[in-house]
Parts: sequence; C-alpha cells; structure tokens
Amino acid sequence: MEIISAWEELEKKVAACQKCKLCETRHNTVFGEGSLDSKIMIIGEGPGEEEDMTGRPFVGRAGQLLTLILEKGGGIPRETVYIANVVKCRPPGNRNPKQEEILACSEYLEAQLLLLRPQIVITMGNVPTQWILKTNKGITALRGQWIPWRGIKLLPMFHPSYLLRNESKEQGSPKWLTNQDIKSVKKILDTL
Ligand code: URA
Repeated sequence: MEIISAWEELEKKVAACQKCKLCETRHNTVFGEGSLDSKIMIIGEGPGEEEDMTGRPFVGRAGQLLTLILEKGGGIPRETVYIANVVKCRPPGNRNPKQEEILACSEYLEAQLLLLRPQIVITMGNVPTQWILKTNKGITALRGQWIPWRGIKLLPMFHPSYLLRNESKEQGSPKWLTNQDIKSVKKILDTL
C-alpha cells in the first residue's frame, strides 16, 4: 500500500476505535500530526482538554511550551517533526492513562513508528518513556540520556506540563535541563 494511504487508513481506524472505555468520553480522537518525512517523532502521553476538542496533539498550554522548546530552544520548526501520543483519546480529568488503555492503544503507535521510521524519538515524561522502554524507572532518572532502541536514537525528556509547574530557569532546573536536551537533539539531527 502506498505510504500516504497507509497513514489515512490508520487514521480512519483510530477515529472509529472503541477498544477501550476512553471512546465513551472523548469528543475527538487525536491521531497525531506533522511531517511524514520527519526524522523526529515526539511522543506524549495523551490528549488533554484542548486536544480532545480540536483533535490535534499538543495545542494547549503544554503544547505551546513544547513548540517554544522546539523552536526557540532547539531551532527545530514544529511542522518539521511528527507528534503523537501513547493514547489517542483523552483520559477524563487528565488522569494518567490506565495500563489497559495503553495496551489497547499501543498497536496504533507501533504502526505510526513503522510508517514514519524516525531516526530520533523523544519521549515526553513517564508514560511514553516507560511504554517504549518497558521499564518502571522514572523520567528523572532517564531524561537526557540517549538510549539506543530498535536502531533509533531515543531521548527521554521532561513533559512540558511538568515544566509548567516548575518555572525556575536556574542552572540544573527542569527547564534548564530541557534546554540542554533539545540542544543535544539539534546537534544529533544535524549529523543525520
Ligand atoms: N499532553 C500530552 O501528553 N499530549 C498532548 O497531546 C497534550 C498534552
């Protein structure tokens, strides 16, 4: 199948998905968006309220911060990356997705990874990092480390929502560390 139609088929499948209970409360599925030629895939946790209302990933406050980190911190235009989430429907009240919801949804993210074939994956926060690495280790222990994963360069980073709760930009703060991380992404990207 042609690659574009494979993406379209997958998006249709997600839009109709009823594999877990999140389908009962969602307004829209949030499939993912960005450049289908991108070398970078960014993986978040799941849609929040604005994402649920618009059907687009990372468009709320955390999303705006993500755009700033990419563009101002890394010099990487948002539209040049591909952005997806572990779960495609909003967990009510922005709770963490449950294991069974992650499991039900993971075939879609697996398919997105196969279709995009990124060279760099950035996981934002605990949920995508633990899903991809099949680990219980927390983000604070893992962030900033380049980890080889299925031949891909994987970098766990703090979730932008966490940064919104930790405003300090002092050396060693989560925001400062994130700035280091995105600069290291740009450095690697420039070698690819
Ligand atoms: N947080 C996420 O993890 N994903 C989004 O799409 C929005 C907020």
